[in-house]
Amino acid sequence: MRRLENILVTGGAGFIGSNFIRLLLESAPGFNGRIINFDALTYAGNIASLLDVQAKFGGKRYFFERGNIQDADLVATIFEKYRIDTVVHFAAESHVDRSIVEPDAFVQTNIVGTFTLLEATRRYWARRDGVLFHHISTDEVYGSLGEINTFTETTPYAPRSPYSASKAASDHMVMAFYHTYGLPVTLSNCSNNYGPYQFPEKFIPLMILNLKEGKSLPVYGDGRNVRDWIHVDDHNRAVWQILRQSKIGESYNIGGENEWENIHLIQKLIEIIAKALGADTDELNRLITFVKDRPGHDRRYAINCAKIRRELNWERVIGFEEGLAKTVDWYLGNKEWIDGVRSGVYRQWIEQNYKER
Ligand code: NAD
Ligand code: TYD
Repeated sequence: MRRLENILVTGGAGFIGSNFIRLLLESAPGFNGRIINFDALTYAGNIASLLDVQAKFGGKRYFFERGNIQDADLVATIFEKYRIDTVVHFAAESHVDRSIVEPDAFVQTNIVGTFTLLEATRRYWARRDGVLFHHISTDEVYGSLGEINTFTETTPYAPRSPYSASKAASDHMVMAFYHTYGLPVTLSNCSNNYGPYQFPEKFIPLMILNLKEGKSLPVYGDGRNVRDWIHVDDHNRAVWQILRQSKIGESYNIGGENEWENIHLIQKLIEIIAKALGADTDELNRLITFVKDRPGHDRRYAINCAKIRRELNWERVIGFEEGLAKTVDWYLGNKEWIDGVRSGVYRQWIEQNYKER
């Protein structure tokens, strides 16, 4: 039996991590434990994404610690202080475009940071009963698909961007710690997530906000690249299922089975936003601007998630129409959060209130 009493969530102030913490504390069946959110608060980390959680659970079942996963001493202190029995490792540099311009941070956080965390875990968990290190990864490690086929758990790794290469390296290190040291690990590779609290440099929130503000919609290349979209809550429910029921040493693919060419997804967003704002569809369509392609732009991702469905009884429950409409509503209705992450107001507030040790 897994203990799941004191869960260290790294990167819990980011998009997927913050939604994971909220989901676990608010509605995960059978979860009664504590969550320790360990996050460096980089540009992508925003403690304001969890103000509701802090108000309701802070100091009782929710704790925040600011710090870098590369800081071995601090990680060890946190393990001792909270008697950590489970790690859910979300912390990463996560944006492909940034990895092309500044790959260094990706190597440091995604590779060195994951290694540091694994080393700390190996030492602290001398007794291995009931503990688990779950590593969150991406389908991008598998590389780029042609028009047919899907990624399975046995698809060979073939990463093509500094981001996906750094994630692939960390995945290999996680599995190496399982095979070499017997560290109880699991791994999941998920497709593109969408939902609330995603930093507006990523495709869906960027397009929603540009549509709202009448700014151009930059479409890379011919706009025919395909991504498989999944709602962040469906991803996180899969992670919760893995924490409870997975087999040690296994990896699980998680996806939406929901493929969209970028250009068609923009047209779908235009349709939803035109309705929500009473705007003219033709006018919004005129904002579409084809721009220079991303170097090494992967053509298509598509996940086969038969394994997690079969072995862990997981199903996607949020339909794309419904999930996308709610996500658009969220971005249209949360001006304060958006202004905050864009203007750096939250950054100043974070620097004043959450000094790194
Ligand atoms: P995000 O960029 O929104 O959040 C990353 C979080 O990690 C931030 O809060 C940041 O402050 C924190 N962080 C970064 N460097 C750190 C460090 N050195 N020490 C401690 N904290 C640090 O990312 P996300 O979209 O929420 O992705 C979370 C995880 O899920 C990542 O591992 C990513 O590779 C993976 N993933 C993301 C997607 C997606 O569509 N977003 C899909 C599949 C997998
Ligand atoms: P992104 O959200 O960066 O996720 P990823 O590259 O990790 O899949 O991009 C999703 C898709 O949208 C990808 O094919 C690149 C494309 N894209 C654009 O066409 N324009 C943009 O401004 C952005 C950010 C992405």
